[in-house]
Amino acid sequence: MERTFIMLKPDAVQRGLVGQIIARFESKGCKLVGMKLVKVDRNLAEEHYAEHKGKSFFEPTVNYIMSSPVVATVWEGKNVIAIARELMGSTNPASANPGTIRGAYGMDISRNIIHGSDSVASADREIALYFRPVEILEYDKAGEEWLSE
Ligand code: PPS
Repeated sequence: MERTFIMLKPDAVQRGLVGQIIARFESKGCKLVGMKLVKVDRNLAEEHYAEHKGKSFFEPTVNYIMSSPVVATVWEGKNVIAIARELMGSTNPASANPGTIRGAYGMDISRNIIHGSDSVASADREIALYFRPVEILEYDKAGEEWLSE
């Protein structure tokens, strides 16, 4: 079963959107297997966005992510990486479909509410950055048998 790392960014927490965002993933059928509130330090922020080092938005993005607590989550499900990216919408909330999380709740790319892994390799890397293996839980979830054959 595939896993993805989803981070509710500081603006999601500050604006009281955590419950609504988590509810979208739950309603879709994604299975929550890890979750915690994290104050991201500079080392972690720079490691998370390492592939963007040198780009104009690197420093602002690192500062944004460090500015206030984030909610780090791990979700499990069939094709959950692609499904989560559909739920989140385009990176820039200004052009994201209004039915998506960024489209519904955001106005600007510099405060885009949520981060999600873009591949299996990214998910593995990001989950390992934020979670110890024992913090990812295996359990049977009621109703799983009704999500797919
Ligand atoms: S790229 O280089 O645009 O293809 O990168 P991408 O994979 O889309 O992710 C870029 C991350 O940096 C955040 N960010 C911005 N990206 C592009 N332009 C601007 N101005 C910008 N400002 C911030 C963007 O939200 C991505 O972070 P995550 O956490 O993955 O959403």
